[in-house]
Amino acid sequence: MLRNSPVNAMPSRYHPALVALHWILAFCVVGLLFAGTLVLDPLANDDPAKLISFRLHMGLGIVTLALMAVRLVLRLSTRTPPRARTGNAFLDRLGPLTHWALYGAVLAMAVSGLLFARDSGLPDAVFGTGPMPERFDHPGRAVHGIVASVLMALIALHVAAALWHQFLRRDGLMARMWFGPR
Ligand code: HEM
Ligand code: HEM
Repeated sequence: MLRNSPVNAMPSRYHPALVALHWILAFCVVGLLFAGTLVLDPLANDDPAKLISFRLHMGLGIVTLALMAVRLVLRLSTRTPPRARTGNAFLDRLGPLTHWALYGAVLAMAVSGLLFARDSGLPDAVFGTGPMPERFDHPGRAVHGIVASVLMALIALHVAAALWHQFLRRDGLMARMWFGPR
């Protein structure tokens, strides 16, 4: 049951800016994961179709990094609802752990992408006139591929948990990540 809470008590929802960022970033990150795996990865670097895909992916990836940084600052500086209780100590710890792992994995994707793209001269090739690298020989490329799989697994777990709360436990958890009086 949601109700207004006094200023210093724990609120019943996340800060509205965090709610907005949660849903915008969920859209960006899922889009980047799908397009990265299904469109970007299979194309050869000299395929003309890859250029536009690179532009979109790198542009959206950088926007994602900037929004995630803002979100992290807001997350650390705003009051959050109390930890969700399920009656199971393991699940009660798994929730917050998964949330921090999601922050870490998204940031690792964006930073590794930036690093291997920069060191391969990609910004100049994609947004300027430089030559396209034949392939990416960079540890950041390996990190980008491995963390992508970890992130997909985390998101699957996260969404499954949200649906379990909403439809099986029916504890109204979804409302904590939506707009309304806090
Ligand atoms: C949260 C942000 C990001 C996500 C979720 C993401 C996701 C992905 C995924 C899933 C792939 C395919 C990997 C594979 O199948 O091995 C990929 C490839 C790639 N990403 Fe990202 N990415 C992000 C940010 C960035 C950024 C900021 C850049 C560069 C500025 C970047 C550059 C690239 C490049 C160049 C490839 C293609 C590599 C290749 O063709 O071998 N990514 N990304
Ligand atoms: C349709 C997909 C999604 C649904 C239904 C969903 C639902 C939720 C809900 C209900 C909460 C609140 C949990 C609580 O009150 O304890 C939450 C929190 C959170 N979600 Fe999602 N989510 C989705 C996608 C994503 C994605 C793709 C990411 C990662 C980029 C993500 C990252 C987070 C994080 C980090 C939190 C913790 C709150 C914070 O610190 O910002 N979510 N989500």
